[in-house]
Amino acid sequence: MELTLRTYDSSIDPIPYDLLLSADPSKEMVDAYYSRGLCTLAYLGDRLVGEFVLLPTRPATVEIVNIAVDEQSQGQGIGTRLVHQAIHEASRLGAKTIEIGTGNSSVMQLYLYQKCGFRIVGVDVDFFVRHYDEPIEENGIPCRDMIRLAMDLPHRI
Ligand code: ACO
Repeated sequence: MELTLRTYDSSIDPIPYDLLLSADPSKEMVDAYYSRGLCTLAYLGDRLVGEFVLLPTRPATVEIVNIAVDEQSQGQGIGTRLVHQAIHEASRLGAKTIEIGTGNSSVMQLYLYQKCGFRIVGVDVDFFVRHYDEPIEENGIPCRDMIRLAMDLPHRI
C-alpha cells in the first residue's frame, strides 16, 4: 500500500498523541511545541502510521521536534521517508539549517538520522534529567543527554 503524507489540519484531525508520546514521553513538552509546530501525518490507506513536527526555532532554522512511526509499521522504511520529507519541507520553508535532537540511548534513531545526512554538533548534557520527571532507559542505557544533530540546507528545493 502506498504511503500518503498530508499536513495536520486542526479543524478535522485529532492531535496524534499516541505517536507523539511514543517519541517524547512528556505530554507537557509535546503540548508546548505542538501548537507552534507544523505537523505532517503519514497514512497507509486510511490508517495513520506516522508523523513529524517541524518547529521554526531561530531565524532560518527549523527543528524536527518529534517524529514517530507506529510500532506495527516500523522497519519498513517509513521513518526514513519521513526524515527525507522533513528535510524537503524545511528547505521549502526557506530554512538554511535543520536540526534534530535525540537521547544518548536512542541508538537506532542516531543511526537513522546520520544515515539521512545529519551530523552530531553537540551534546546537551543532562537535558533529560533536567526536563523529565521520570528516569528514561533504552537499550539498557540510562537516557540523560540530548545528542544534537544538524544539517545544512544550501538551497531551496
Ligand atoms: N533494529 C535495528 N535496526 C532497525 C530497527 C530495529 N528494530 N528498526 C529499523 N531499523 C533500521 C532499518 O533497517 C533502517 O536501516 P537501513 O536504512 O539501513 O535499512 C533504519 O533503521 C530506519 O528504518 P525505517 O524503517 O526507515 O524507520 P522506522 O519506520 O522504523 O522509523 C523511528 C524510525 C521513527 C525512529 C521509529 O522507530 C519510531 O517511531 N520509534 C519510536 C519513536 C521515536 O523514538 N522517535 C524518535 C524520537 S527523537 C525525536 O522525535 C526528535
